Amino acid sequence: MPKTIHLGCDHAALDMKNALIKALEADYALEDHGTYTAESCDYPDIAHAVCRAVEQDSESCGILICGTGIGMSIAANRHQGIRAALCTTELHARLSRQHNNANVLCLGARMTGSVLAEAIVQAFLHTDFEGGRHQRRLDKLAI
Ligand code: RB5
Repeated sequence: MPKTIHLGCDHAALDMKNALIKALEADYALEDHGTYTAESCDYPDIAHAVCRAVEQDSESCGILICGTGIGMSIAANRHQGIRAALCTTELHARLSRQHNNANVLCLGARMTGSVLAEAIVQAFLHTDFEGGRHQRRLDKLAI
């Protein structure tokens, strides 16, 4: 389980991020990288802030939420040290950890209901990387 979770969202996902903070704050150290209001903002700004923080602390992970989750995942995966997974099911979340060692979970607040989103987050946080052949494949990702 990660020690610290870095969270970020754009305006489309503020309610979901705040709900996740409430659900997680008793069990994890959380760092909220914004946005903090419903005013329109640009998801890359938030994605880069969260990803820089995750890259600096290998024992942490990130959760990024926008309307679809797509913008956040595209922005996050531009970082060399980030493996971001856009998940819409608990199975996606488990496999993103077991096979891909994902260190950032992306969610779409306009696509995924809040109850399912919380279950996806719990699956992500409680699943370990399997290593072995999956590590060999991760080693081939760098270009
Ligand atoms: C914001 O309107 C929306 O474009 C953003 O939240 C996200 O879905 C982009 O990928």
